Amino acid sequence: MRAHIVTLPGDGVGPEVTAAAVAVLDAVAAHYDHHFHFEEHQIGGCAIDATGEPLPAASLEACKAADAVLLGAVGGPKWSDPNAPVRPEQGLLALRAALGVYANLRPLQVHPALAELSPLKNEKLKNVDVLFVRELTGGAYFGAKTRTIDTATDECKYTVAEVERVTRRAFELARERHKHVTSVDKANVLETSRLWRSTVQRVAAEFPDVKLEHQLVDSMAMLLLTQPGKYDVVVTENLFGDILTDEAAALAGSLGLLPSASLGEGKGGLYEPIHGSAPDIAGKGVANPTGAILSAAMLLRHSLGLEEEASTVEAAVADVLERGPHTRDIGGSAGTKDVLEAVLAAIDEHACNAAAFLRWGRACG
Ligand code: NAD
Ligand code: IPM
Ligand code: MN
Repeated sequence: MRAHIVTLPGDGVGPEVTAAAVAVLDAVAAHYDHHFHFEEHQIGGCAIDATGEPLPAASLEACKAADAVLLGAVGGPKWSDPNAPVRPEQGLLALRAALGVYANLRPLQVHPALAELSPLKNEKLKNVDVLFVRELTGGAYFGAKTRTIDTATDECKYTVAEVERVTRRAFELARERHKHVTSVDKANVLETSRLWRSTVQRVAAEFPDVKLEHQLVDSMAMLLLTQPGKYDVVVTENLFGDILTDEAAALAGSLGLLPSASLGEGKGGLYEPIHGSAPDIAGKGVANPTGAILSAAMLLRHSLGLEEEASTVEAAVADVLERGPHTRDIGGSAGTKDVLEAVLAAIDEHACNAAAFLRWGRACG
C-alpha cells in the first residue's frame, strides 16, 4: 500500500526518537512491500525559532493532507519563560484540535523483564494490561483563560456531545478487549464531572455486554498503584488522563516506553510517545525510542489498517525488552541507535518468518 506520513520531530529528544520510528516504518515497508512517503515539518520550539509560530500554517496543512502524523515531542527550557508570549505546547494543542483527534489511546503493559524497575512489587504487576482513553480536545486545556496581576482562571468545559463520542470509542475498544470500562471523574466536586458521569452512564446502555464502573480520580490514582491488574479500559477527561498516564508509565518502568494514538472520526491520526522532550538527556543519543516505535506500530494498525505489520513491530520491541539492549532509563547503558538496530534485527526475524509462512507454510532459514 501507499501512504503519506507527515513527521513532526519537534524539540529535545523528539528528533532522536522520531528518526528511530521512521527507520522502523521504512523496514516494515521494505519487508511487506509498502511505499511510505515521509514529509518532515516543524512544530513547537524549533518552529517558534524559525517562524515565530509553534504550528506554522505549512505544518498544519501538511498534517491535514496526510494519511497519518508521527510526532516526537515539543517544549524545553529555552521556551519555558512564564512570560513568553507563545509556547511550544500551544502548537501541539492547536494541532490536536485542528485534526479533531478527540480520543487519545494510551496502552499500558508491563513487560516481565522490566517488572524489577517498577516501584511496585512484582506480583502486583502480573496481568497489567490497561488501555487509557484520554479525552484530548476539551476540558481545561481548551477553555477560556484569564489573567490579571493577582488572579488567573482556566475554564473547564465539556459538552454532552464531546463526552458521548469519546465514551463510545472507549466502549467500542472495550468490546475488542475484556469488556470492562472504568470511567474516571471527580463527580463529587466538579459539575463537568457530573455531566461526564451521567453521559457515560447513558452511553453505556448502548453496550449492555460491557461492564461499566465509575471511579473518582483521587482514588483511581491510588488504585493504579495498589490493583493495576484490575483494569481494562479507563476513560477519562483530558487533564486527569494526562496525569494518570504518566503515573501508569512508572508501572511499566519508564516514561520512555509508552506510545499513544490520537484518533478522530476518519482514518487519519496523530501518533506520539507520551513522554516530553526530555531536556535533561536531549542530544546525547540515549533517549529510549520504544514509545515512539510503538507509536509507529499504532499508526500501522489504526491509520493504515496493517494489523500484521503492527504486531510484527510490537513483537520485535518485546524481544528487545526481553533480551536487551536497554537504554539507561530502564537500567541499561545502550544508546538510542543500539536499541533501534536491535529492533530492526528482530523485525527482520519476525517479518521474514511471517512472510515465509504465508508463502511456503514454513519459516525462513
Ligand atoms: P519529560 O517527559 O520530557 O521528561 C520527564 C523525565 O522522563 C525526564 O527525566 C526524562 O529524561 C525522562 N524521559 C522522557 N522521555 C524519555 C525517553 N524517551 N527516554 C528516556 N527517558 C525519558 O517531561 P518534562 O521534563 O516534565 O517536560 C519537558 C518538556 O516536554 C516540557 O516543555 C513539556 O511541556 C514537554 N512535554 C511535551 C510532550 C509532548 O510533546 N507530547 C509531552 C510531555 C511533556
Ligand atoms: C502529553 C503532554 C501534553 C499534554 C503537553 C505537552 C501539552 O504532557 O502529551 O501528555 O498535556 O497533553
Ligand atoms: Mn503528559
